[in-house]
Amino acid sequence: MGSPISTAGRLLPVEGQPAPAPRAGLALVTSNTHLSDRYWSLRLQAPEIAAGVRPGQFVMVTVARGTDSHPALPRPMAIYDWDAGDGWIEIVYGVVGAGSRLMTGLAAGERITVVGPLGQGFTVNDAESILTVGRGIGSCSLAGVALAAARRGVRVRAVLSGRHPGALVGAEAFVRAGADPLLLVHDADASSAPARIGAQLSRLLDTQPPDRIYTCGSRRLLDLCGDLGRAWGAEVQVSLEAHMACGLGYCHGCSSSLPGSSSEEPLVCADGPVFRWADA
Ligand SMILES: Cc1cc2nc3c(=O)[nH]c(=O)nc-3n(C[C@H](O)[C@H](O)[C@H](O)COP(=O)(O)OP(=O)(O)OC[C@H]3O[C@@H](n4cnc5c(N)ncnc54)[C@H](O)[C@@H]3O)c2cc1C
Ligand code: FES
Repeated sequence: MGSPISTAGRLLPVEGQPAPAPRAGLALVTSNTHLSDRYWSLRLQAPEIAAGVRPGQFVMVTVARGTDSHPALPRPMAIYDWDAGDGWIEIVYGVVGAGSRLMTGLAAGERITVVGPLGQGFTVNDAESILTVGRGIGSCSLAGVALAAARRGVRVRAVLSGRHPGALVGAEAFVRAGADPLLLVHDADASSAPARIGAQLSRLLDTQPPDRIYTCGSRRLLDLCGDLGRAWGAEVQVSLEAHMACGLGYCHGCSSSLPGSSSEEPLVCADGPVFRWADA
C-alpha cells in the first residue's frame, strides 16, 4: 500500500482480545496453484498456526530452502483462509520479485519455515452487517473477515477493485461469504474510480448502511471509506502494508511513520497491520 498515512486521519488500535503467541515451524506444502494473471494460491498444513488465526492476521514465510542463500528475509503474507480443525492455512500471493517468484516453485510435499499468526486482526464484535473494500492483493487480507463474519450470520457486502479484470483476486472467498452486493470494479472501464464506487455504494446502502467498513490496498479507497464511515456512523478498520524484516516488533523497520511524529510507532507488524481509522 505504499505510504498510506496522511494527516487526514489517525491510526488507533483495534479493540479486541490480545493475540495468542505466534508459533514458528516447518509447514508442509499441500498445494501451490496458479489462479490467474500473476496470482497463486499456496496451501500449507500448519496446525499450530491454524489453531490461533484471527481474520486479518498474517504469517512470515521464509522462501529460501536447503542450500539457497537468497532471499534471506521472510516475506509477510496475509492468511486468506484457514481451517483450525483440519490444520491448514491458505495464502493467495502475487508475483512481485525474487521471493514471490521463488514461491511459485514450491511443490506439494516440501516444507518451509512459517511464523504466525502475527499482528492484530480485524474485529467484528457486535456488527450486524459489514462492508469490505479491497484493492488488488489487498482484497486477500479482507477475505478472512468476510468469511468469519458470514460464519457468525453477519451480512457481508464487498467491493473488489483492481487494475483489470484479471487483478480482481480472491473473489471466490467473498462469493462463499455470500457478499451481496459484490461489486467487481476495475481501471480498464473506469468503474474503479473512487467517486463512482462511492456513488454506487451510497445508492445501494444508504438505507441500510453497514456497522463496520474494512479496507486494504489503496490510499484512495481508505479516504473513501473514511467519508462513508462518517456519513453512515460506521467504524472503519484498515489493514496496512509495510516492508518487514522480522514481523515480530523487534527491528522497527515497519514503522507507519505518521507525519509530524518523531516516534517509530505504531509498528505495522505488531500494533497492526489492522488499525481503526479515525478523523485527525
Ligand atoms: C501484513 C502484510 C500482508 C501481506 N499480504 C500479502 C498477501 O496476502 N499476498 C501477497 O501477494 N502479498 C502480500 N503482502 C505483500 C508481500 O509481502 C510482498 O509482495 C512480498 O514481500 C514481495 O516479496 P518479493 O521478494 O516477491 O519482492 P521484492 O520486491 O524482491 O522484495 C524485496 C523486499 O521488499 C519487501 N517487500 C516488497 N514489496 C512489499 C510489500 N508490498 N509489502 C511488504 N514488503 C514488501 C519484501 O518482503 C522484501 O523484504 C503483504 C504485506 C504485508 C505487510
Ligand atoms: S517488521 Fe520488525 S518491527 Fe515490524
